[in-house]
Amino acid sequence: MVSINDPELMIAKPAGLTAATGMDALTHAVECYITLAANPITDALSLKSIKLISDNLRRAVAYGEDIEAREAMAYASVMAGMAFNNAGLGYVHAMAHQLGGLLDMAHGVANAVLLPHVERWNLMVNPEKFAKIAETMGECTCYKGKMEAAELAIKAIERLSKDVGIPSGLASLGVKESDLKPMAITALQDGNAGCNPRKGNEDDIVELFKAAM
Ligand SMILES: [Fe+2]
Repeated sequence: MVSINDPELMIAKPAGLTAATGMDALTHAVECYITLAANPITDALSLKSIKLISDNLRRAVAYGEDIEAREAMAYASVMAGMAFNNAGLGYVHAMAHQLGGLLDMAHGVANAVLLPHVERWNLMVNPEKFAKIAETMGECTCYKGKMEAAELAIKAIERLSKDVGIPSGLASLGVKESDLKPMAITALQDGNAGCNPRKGNEDDIVELFKAAM
């Protein structure tokens, strides 16, 4: 398989697809940064990817012909891909795959809606790394306690998601309460579930879906 990652080919990509694919790349970078399999090489790739996305996704969505933003996003996408192919992903992708299968929902949109909720639940596993994500996304973590600094990563992700036009919840995308339990069961069987740094059961996954409704 060959992947051509040429920013000039992305110029005509519509704003909605740019936002969805950009948030998918951010999800790759964030999830693999906090997996138990992360190492200094994948950490470096993930953090640089997060920085490039935080600095350039809004520009790429706002003005598709911005070749500098498109190039930065192309690098971010490749770096996050190199990172997660070595360190794995987590519950966001495990859950998003179920939404994509059930509703034909865009993969990046499903990830973007789930990302802040799953990572808020994961925060306590590694607050130091979440504080680093916050700092990388431009948040001021100075004079903050460990958990308070970590929570700023969630705020930064939510702000970026809102700015690029990602819907705020799953209910508006057609998900029903009755869908949640069957999706939680299959999410835990997804290949990405085993990489999540906090172990959950079916009830935990149902609660995460509910939080994202
Ligand atoms: Fe993805």
